[in-house]
Amino acid sequence: MTDYVTVTHEDGIAIITLDNPPVNALSLHLRQPLFAAIEAARDDAGVKGLVIACAGRTFVSGADISEFGTDRARATPSLPELCALLESLEKPAVAAIHGTALGGGLELALACHYRVADRQAKVGLPEVKLGILPGAGGTVRLPRVAGPEKAVKMIVSGSPIGAADALASGIVDEIAEGDLTGAAVAFARKKVAEGGPHLPVRARNEKIEATHADPAAFEAAVKQATAKTRGLEAPLACAEAVRNAVELSFDEALNKERELFTRLVSGVQSRAQRHLFFAEREAAKIPGVGKDVTPREIRKVGIIGAGTMGGGIAMAFANGGYPVTMLEASEEALDRGFATIEKNYAISVQRGSLSEEDKAKRLARFSRTTDYADLADADLIIEAVFEEMSVKQDVFGKLDKVAKPGAILATNTSYLDVNRIASFTARPQDVVGLHFFSPANVMKLLEIVRGEKTAPDVLATVLTVGKRIGKVPVVVGVCHGFVGNRMLGARGDDLEPLLLEGAAPEQIDRVFTDFGFVMGPFAMWDLAGLDVGWRNRKSLGKTAVIGDALCERGRFGQKTGKGMYLYENGSRTPTPDPEVAKLIEDKAAERGIERRAISDQEIIERTLYPMINEAALILEEKIASRPSDIDIVWVNGYGFPIGKGGPMFWADLEGLKTIVERLDHWHARTGKKVFEPAASLRRLADTGGSFSARPA
Ligand code: 3HC
Ligand code: NAI
Repeated sequence: MTDYVTVTHEDGIAIITLDNPPVNALSLHLRQPLFAAIEAARDDAGVKGLVIACAGRTFVSGADISEFGTDRARATPSLPELCALLESLEKPAVAAIHGTALGGGLELALACHYRVADRQAKVGLPEVKLGILPGAGGTVRLPRVAGPEKAVKMIVSGSPIGAADALASGIVDEIAEGDLTGAAVAFARKKVAEGGPHLPVRARNEKIEATHADPAAFEAAVKQATAKTRGLEAPLACAEAVRNAVELSFDEALNKERELFTRLVSGVQSRAQRHLFFAEREAAKIPGVGKDVTPREIRKVGIIGAGTMGGGIAMAFANGGYPVTMLEASEEALDRGFATIEKNYAISVQRGSLSEEDKAKRLARFSRTTDYADLADADLIIEAVFEEMSVKQDVFGKLDKVAKPGAILATNTSYLDVNRIASFTARPQDVVGLHFFSPANVMKLLEIVRGEKTAPDVLATVLTVGKRIGKVPVVVGVCHGFVGNRMLGARGDDLEPLLLEGAAPEQIDRVFTDFGFVMGPFAMWDLAGLDVGWRNRKSLGKTAVIGDALCERGRFGQKTGKGMYLYENGSRTPTPDPEVAKLIEDKAAERGIERRAISDQEIIERTLYPMINEAALILEEKIASRPSDIDIVWVNGYGFPIGKGGPMFWADLEGLKTIVERLDHWHARTGKKVFEPAASLRRLADTGGSFSARPA
């Protein structure tokens, strides 16, 4: 017995309780005493059965991810050894599951003969999200209790299921009402009384045999589960492992699972995805805001502006259960905004992702107004009106008059100075940027923009609320474009020269999708509307050779059926347009630019390298607290491939020395500022450093 494992006895049942806060991960210091406790129970003639239960907020939520790649992960007893020991017992073993039994936690439970869960429990094998597959028998045992179809769906998606579903599909044997451990002990006693032999999961073959008899449904499930793997290896390995469980003997399939696990866990994609797991949790720690800071209570939310962003933000809050009051400049604008919201919900119902009942519940959370007085009881008010300082000034001036003391006043501005916006009120400590991404009800990223005077409890509040509505919040500082859009600007700075010098739009977009981005920059321009940038440039007195020429011809992107590409008959698929190719050639000729073949590598160097350079400046200026925050921004807001871990993780892999050398090269050739290596980047490169090992 240690602090991590305690054993008590009740009427011949040994209750082994694990206590490794916060989530009972199966670290070596837990595995060792657990193994000993199971052996002791096995060898004690007085013990007739075992219950494995957990203290704290949850059952075991997995292997200890921080041990991966270290000797501790391989040290004896390994998790597969623990599972084999449990499975070899002749006495019945029962897992008592509360909270989340995830990954190695569910595998441990599946190595028991039986599982009892409380009603709120969730079970799942989320390893795929870490770029691996279950490595302690999950792919071989889950199909034996849940059936291969359900197993492949759960393992490839990584999504957990609730207790009721787990009971219906055979993963758990009983749902306990009230005292879980007591129910598990009673279950174990019942099994002891019924007498053995107690069949381990490995010996349960009925569901595997059913698939042998009729493999079509399994094949269909595999096809559906692996339809979108976006260049990731783990989902395919997960499907392969479940197929092995169907086609091979238990032990053969288990060995194959181990081989696949060992290969994936040492690969770049898994390293990248594990980095992102910890990066996301790190991002929730705000420098200067300790755990002692109590968030303010948010019960009602106000949204100003029911356009693209206001509508989406309002939906995100309504979906999260918050009552939302929407304010617009006119009844017509409110009608328009609401019509879009209703249409979006109706589409979700049509697709089957939302029930009519839930749609009605969500819509009932909305109220609408044109009168600021109706925002007087809101605890959080988010402005999403036009991107003009004078309009923001008007809105914040009015808010300052009506909002209750302590209400948080937020702006969704993309580029404007949040400190200036805060200065339009007499309470700058309550003002913060909440930069959502379009479509705001879908996109995960939330940049929380910390103004000079933003109060710590305001930051703690919006972080908590952001998580509650399913966002991934990252705190950033005030500058033009914050972290994401500022780097996007650097990425796009040399795109037009690349076109003029000889790269085709479809080549550049292909380089980006080959890299793993969801879409390339020009497909993105067409989606967002080329006119947005055009109007913005005009207001700033700026020009863009190709972008302006396209807009002058009425080519605004998808909405006009043509932009950088052609979209015929309402299609959303971009088709290269000879007219655009000709336009680019003409513009190059006008400027005396000699066109040449441009390599894919050159495209990477002239787009992604400047983005890394900009990130180095962002870190120097402390706009982002850590490199990993930047990775979270780009993966969740801009479709950066998760298998590459975000731009900073990728830059380390690419080699900072190489990046600086090539930036120097392009800087010497073009003289452009975006290529001039940041001092900190050069320093890291010169000293063999990396972003991940960068001094704080
Ligand atoms: N290993 C190591 N640390 C873990 C961990 C794990 N499996 N799971 C969570 N943690 C840590 C987090 O890093 C965090 O640490 P911090 O406080 O220092 O930042 C802390 O535990 C709390 O985690 P969360 O902030 O995520 O807490 P929540 O309550 O929001 O969520 C959870 C709890 C749902 C369990 C969530 O932490 C989670 O999804 N964990 C990962 C589950 C998982 O992926 N399991 C599979 C692991 S791989 C495996 O088992 C391989 C096997 O097949 C061989
Ligand atoms: P939009 O033009 O779709 O919507 C703006 C809405 O604000 C309109 O419905 C308008 O009637 C309303 N409005 C204007 N002045 C008002 C006032 N004084 N009082 C009340 N309502 C008023 O614009 P969009 O795209 O939703 O942008 C809103 C804000 O969000 C801008 O600051 C923009 O920079 C920012 N943003 C936009 C993103 C995008 O992808 N569109 C992404 C992230 C931020």
